[in-house]
Order: sequence, then C-alpha cells, then structure tokens
Amino acid sequence: MPQTPSLPGTTDRRLAALLTLLSENATIVISGVRIAREIGVSRSTVWRWVEQLRKLGVQVKGQRRTGYFLEKVPDILTPDLLRKRLKGSLFGKRVFHFFKTDSTNRVAMELGFADDPEGAIVMAEEQTSGRGRAGRTWHSEKGTGLYVSILLRPRLAPAQAPLLTMLAGVSAQAAVQAVTGLVPELKWPNDLILNGKKLGGILTEMHAEPSAVRFVVVGIGINANQEKFPVELASIATSLRKESGRITFRLELLVRLLTQFESDYSHFLSEGAPFVVERFQKASDFARGRRVRVDTGTESYVGTTAGLSADGLLLVSRENGALTTVIAGDVTEVG
Ligand code: BTN
Repeated sequence: MPQTPSLPGTTDRRLAALLTLLSENATIVISGVRIAREIGVSRSTVWRWVEQLRKLGVQVKGQRRTGYFLEKVPDILTPDLLRKRLKGSLFGKRVFHFFKTDSTNRVAMELGFADDPEGAIVMAEEQTSGRGRAGRTWHSEKGTGLYVSILLRPRLAPAQAPLLTMLAGVSAQAAVQAVTGLVPELKWPNDLILNGKKLGGILTEMHAEPSAVRFVVVGIGINANQEKFPVELASIATSLRKESGRITFRLELLVRLLTQFESDYSHFLSEGAPFVVERFQKASDFARGRRVRVDTGTESYVGTTAGLSADGLLLVSRENGALTTVIAGDVTEVG
C-alpha cells in the first residue's frame, strides 16, 4: 500500500495502523504482543498509544495484561481504511489525516505549493480555524462533521475554477442522498441546505497565473453528526443527525463523496463547462424561479433567479425587467 509521507501534525502512520487493526478486529481481544509485532513498535508504545486513543475519545477496552479491543468501530476517518476503500482511485494515493489542525484548506494549499500531485486529500477530525466563504469561519467541532480538502491540478483558466465549487456541490448532494436518503438543496454557488438551514458548504481556493490555474483546493464541510450548534448558529445551521435522527458513518459519506466527485470531475475535464452548468441546474431548484435578494457589497437588489449563464454565473431577473449576471456576492431567498 502506498505510504503518505508525514507532514507536521498529521496522525502518526503507526498510530493510524493501530486504529485500523483494532477497527478491523472489532470486539476481538488482540494481545499487546501481536499489536506490537504487526505495527512494528514496542509493547510499551502500544500501551502509550492506546492511552492516547482513549484521550482522543476512542473507546478502547481491555488492558495491558489481557490485550485490547474495540466494542464498536469508531467513527474516525482512519486513513488506512480510506486508502483501502479508494484503492485505484485518484484520491486513494495521498491521504493526510489530522486529529486536529487549523484548516484542511490551509494544509492542502501548502501541499499545492510543495508540488504535491493532483488527488492529495487532507481531512481532519477537528479544525481550529476552519475557513468559510467571504472570510467567515467554519464551525468544525471534533469528530462530528466532515472536513476535507482536495488538491487538484486541472488545465483551466482561472475564471473557470468556480465551476469546481459548483461541481463539488452536485457531488456532495448526490453523496448525501445515497448515504442518508436526504436530499439537500443546492444554493448557488456553494451551499447545501436542508429545511432552510445550512448543512454544508464548499470553499475553493487557488493559485493561478493570469491565464492558467497552477492548482486548486476544493474544501468541503458537511455537518454530519452535530447534535447542537453554538447559539449564534443554532437558527441557521443543521446537521444530518438533526434532520434524520440518525448517526451517519462519516467514512461512508466521504468514500461516496470522493468517488462521485472523481467521476464528475473527469466528465467536467472532458466535456467542459456545459457539463457542470447542466448538472447544477438539474440538481438545484434554487437556480430558477426563486425570489432572492442579491448583496454585492456595492449594491443590493431583489429579483427572481433565472438559471445559469453558459459559464456558470447566476442570472437574476430584476424587478425592473433587467437580466443581471451575479458575479459575486451573497444571494438570499426572500419570502
Ligand atoms: C462556506 O462558507 O460555506 C464554505 C465552508 C467550507 C468549509 C470547509 S471544511 C473543510 C475545508 N477546510 C476549511 O478550512 N474550509 C473547508
């Protein structure tokens, strides 16, 4: 199996191997000697790491004398399991996992500058400065949401990069539907909405020359298992758990999302912008016939969404009859 070289702060490969070994043998007691042999560390290191996993919230049962076991597979985005599930795919080769980092987008941008190849993915159990659109922060509570960034090196003009945001939205909608049965609404350009509240979002960042993209980072955040949100978000954010009452196994959601995105991405590269525009318009009820307020920072107006332009920009038919193309800004539905 290809190994991903470690990056400061990433989960130690052998700690991840311990977690995988326990997960693959859930409910079975494995002796410290066997664990030590299989992952190539001493018995006392095994004991120290079991303590570390416990501190991270993984419920490892058993003790030094008898061996260790997991009562159930923890919902941790174990990089080895992900690599196995994504074997042969673009995203199964370079998997970076953090228990905690500031922002997976920040890490993936660094990988981009360091010439890491297309397909590297960065995921975290918790982000301390998760980045949202327009300089906002993304609430990234430990172990509950999906926080993942994908490094891409497409041959695109910089003006086409926002299409990747929309494409990731379409893939995320399909993945959520496949895993939970819930169908989030897609709100141009980057929001996933359930029952009027924000379920997820996409933040695309890039490094480009005037005429060509050098690399793009597509960061995806999905609220999966949050039971509550901080007061300031309580009325505007939701999670799959709050909407369905069920726990979503994040690894399953991530595998589905990455598999779907790989296929959508390859269609986009071969068919161009029309593929994204068509998919998005089909997937988004919001794109047509909704009364919205557009705030661009310099002006604010009300109109009705009228589909997308050929290059993926939202068209809004204004009350004075003019058809306006929204290049940037906040679009909110009005009653
Ligand atoms: C939005 O404002 O709707 C976009 C939110 C994007 C959040 C994700 S979480 C994973 C990745 N890392 C970040 O720092 N942000 C994105």
